[in-house]
Amino acid sequence: MRMYDLIMKKRNGEALTKEEIQYMITEYVNGKIPDYQMSAFLMAVYFRGMTEEETLAMTLAVAHSGDMVDLSGIEGMKVDKHSTGGVGDKTTLIIAPIVASCGVKVAKMSGRGLGHTGGTVDKMESIPGMQTSLDREKFFEVVNQTGLSVIGQSGNLAPADKKLYALRDVTATVDSIPLIAVSIMSKKLAAGNDGILLDVKTGSGAFMKTVEDSIALAKEMVSIGENAGKKMVALITNMDIPLGYNIGNSLEVIEAVETLQGRGPKDLTEVCLQLAANMLYLAKKGNIEECRQLAEDAINSGRALERLIAMVEAQGGNADVIRDTNKFAKAPYQREVLAEKSGYIAHMNAEGCGIASSMLGAGRETKDSVIDFTAGIVLKKKTGDVVKEGDVLAILYTSNDSLFENAQEQYRNSIVIMEQPPKEEPLIYARVTPNGVEKY
Ligand code: URA
Repeated sequence: MRMYDLIMKKRNGEALTKEEIQYMITEYVNGKIPDYQMSAFLMAVYFRGMTEEETLAMTLAVAHSGDMVDLSGIEGMKVDKHSTGGVGDKTTLIIAPIVASCGVKVAKMSGRGLGHTGGTVDKMESIPGMQTSLDREKFFEVVNQTGLSVIGQSGNLAPADKKLYALRDVTATVDSIPLIAVSIMSKKLAAGNDGILLDVKTGSGAFMKTVEDSIALAKEMVSIGENAGKKMVALITNMDIPLGYNIGNSLEVIEAVETLQGRGPKDLTEVCLQLAANMLYLAKKGNIEECRQLAEDAINSGRALERLIAMVEAQGGNADVIRDTNKFAKAPYQREVLAEKSGYIAHMNAEGCGIASSMLGAGRETKDSVIDFTAGIVLKKKTGDVVKEGDVLAILYTSNDSLFENAQEQYRNSIVIMEQPPKEEPLIYARVTPNGVEKY
């Protein structure tokens, strides 16, 4: 087999066989296929797409390029959740404890921040002492003891994806639906869970900007998972507005705790209840209505918050900051962003808000940047709110006050104030299962 011929086949719009795809991924990981040939292939996929069979074959080949986690040491059905990434998305910290408190084990590997989006592992590390890198035995011990554990991705999970992702990033081939589906699902299949709930974000703060593209991506991923023997559901959720009011690492943990205490923002609480209900549904805890009731009870009884505290303690974290979030370290500097005119918040560029938070130190400028866990933004007004000139739109927090000017400018440019109120958008647009698409 020659990579040259495979590139030409894809360039001409033909489908590759399972064997050809397996050869290409194996040889690429082994360093036998150079980046320039793989780049040409990726660009051919970008324009020509891939069939369902090709996408599945490539996902399996990428998943099997490294460790396949065996979760059989954890009793019961294990359900995973994956968000395609957003701004203010602290849902894992809320849903995982809810689901665990309902008797479903959550053994989850999460990521770090990527671009303008935050990552659960960075958020967890804002809890003093919290370990996010556990060996297999400790990971299983924490799940068996507390019902849940969230850790960073193991070093050898889908190494082919690591190489491919880095290449896509510099060859303008990230936003290809089959390539995103392969990238996400290879890691999910390697992580070894029985059921997978996908939270496909859509809008200005998401990688997928339109509902149609998000549904297409969700359908591909649900089909890959189903064909690989997993129970699958995807929800298409709104990421045109940051989720909740807090953006930034410890700020998001605080808001997650408030939500588990039953006093979280309406949008965040609603999205979390729907996501948790669908995870419980995948774990066969009842129909969606029954599962939603279980999720609500888990918050109202305080059981879900107890699960979060148990996990934090089992992973070496200081749970005092969870019991009393005033004990989190505070950013030494804060600055208000004021409205320059009156009207309605007609639009927030959620990506722009995420970039502003990152500029304050909450994200990484380079791979080696050190995160300022206290940095971020607390929104005071969101899309649809009425504002008067001089009202506080948001408060910016940082440990380095020289970062304010640019971040403030970035935030201000992300907010559009107009005389007319905007059209209200739903929080959840659709639910995608192997049986089809249900639009809300
Ligand atoms: N997240 C991933 O893991 N991969 C992609 O390609 C896009 C988002």
